[in-house]
Amino acid sequence: MESIWEKTVHLPKFESLRNDIRADVLVIGGGLAGLLCAYELTQAGVDCVLAEAGRLCGGVTKNTTAKLTVQHGLIYHKLLKEFGPERTRAYLEANQAALKRFRTLCRDIPCDFEERPSYVYSLDSRKELEQELAALDKLGHPAVLADKVPLPFPVAGAVRFDRQAQFNPLKFAAGLLNGLKIFEHTRVLEVKTGEAVTGGGRIRADHIVVATHFPFLNKFGCYWLKMYQSRSYVLALEGGPNLDGMYVDGSGKGLSFRNDHNLLLLGGGGHRTGKQGGGWAVLEDFTRRHYPGAQPVCRWAAQDCMTLDGAPYIGLYSPRLPRLYVVTGFNKWGMTSSIVAANLVTDLILGRDCPYQEVFSPSRSVFHPQLAVNAGESSLNLLTPTRPRCPHLGCALKYNPQEHSWDCPCHGSRFAEGGQLLDGPATGDLPHPPPKHSKA
Ligand code: FES
Repeated sequence: MESIWEKTVHLPKFESLRNDIRADVLVIGGGLAGLLCAYELTQAGVDCVLAEAGRLCGGVTKNTTAKLTVQHGLIYHKLLKEFGPERTRAYLEANQAALKRFRTLCRDIPCDFEERPSYVYSLDSRKELEQELAALDKLGHPAVLADKVPLPFPVAGAVRFDRQAQFNPLKFAAGLLNGLKIFEHTRVLEVKTGEAVTGGGRIRADHIVVATHFPFLNKFGCYWLKMYQSRSYVLALEGGPNLDGMYVDGSGKGLSFRNDHNLLLLGGGGHRTGKQGGGWAVLEDFTRRHYPGAQPVCRWAAQDCMTLDGAPYIGLYSPRLPRLYVVTGFNKWGMTSSIVAANLVTDLILGRDCPYQEVFSPSRSVFHPQLAVNAGESSLNLLTPTRPRCPHLGCALKYNPQEHSWDCPCHGSRFAEGGQLLDGPATGDLPHPPPKHSKA
């Protein structure tokens, strides 16, 4: 189940760490967020090393649909209510700066960067779209209410942002690697003050950035309570229409669309990891009904960290740990959020003022209804007496018949049928292979 990006791009391989080393900054995690942190810090003249547990971009980055947009669903109306105008404007400006940085970087990196309009549609609520437009008007961001979109079902309308973009994430990542100090297959086992312990040696560093998708240090920051993970599915269709734009359902539960060369990427079927969901079956059914001439040529799934209030956590891992940083919780908008994270972390490490610090602060308020949902889900699965158990914090794993994996509903760790770790925050395989299972 390789994505179209993996099929077309093969990133160079890097050695694993075999001795003790020292650097100004250690970045843990070699997805796009970690790579961009290492890239921006190195560009700023900082001696930086990156340690990746597996292969570079081997997690979410290879499975994204790679939309570069500041339009993160119908988020601005919601953020205005949650954060007020000042912090919402900071969120918007941080993402506008990220999109601008992508434009600059992509001039020199051949990565199929293309400008496209971005649309968030609603199936039935014109009011939600109008509220979003009013919020954008208040923030001074141009947007248009489109009555029609070229999708094969009726909509109440769509909010359109012009001059957004799409690209090939692995081609882009390949263009960042020159001059970076990278160790692959180097899992960080423990982080102490100013030092990370790996199987191949110790890395001493003044600053450490945890960019491991879901943070793996449980003792601090309560990320296991502040986030859950969500899976979503993608089909690449040959013979589908060219939609000349990027489209996503504003409810967060529907479908997404974008083209890549002659393919149409159809996304959806999402659900909380470890729960039942529509998966690829929803997308296949939609294809049969609406694009009968199209053929799926490739399919894959992505996994995203979802925060309590819809904004990422970027900044100090915990107020008690002054030189340990975290970048996580991108809420399915990982491309622009990765650059926001790289800019913000670089500013923090270099002691520069950053106007976006507060809105992304990982220690902002946790009083949000989603906190109770997360706590309830964890309690329920901790008390469920079935096996196998998740080695992260002990929840009961659920069999995922679509992907033949064992998934954790608490925080989203996943394991292959043989027990091998697929996704964190767990950091190792299951101690015993789980029982054979053919259906949920
Ligand atoms: Fe936390 Fe499973 S991922 S208990």
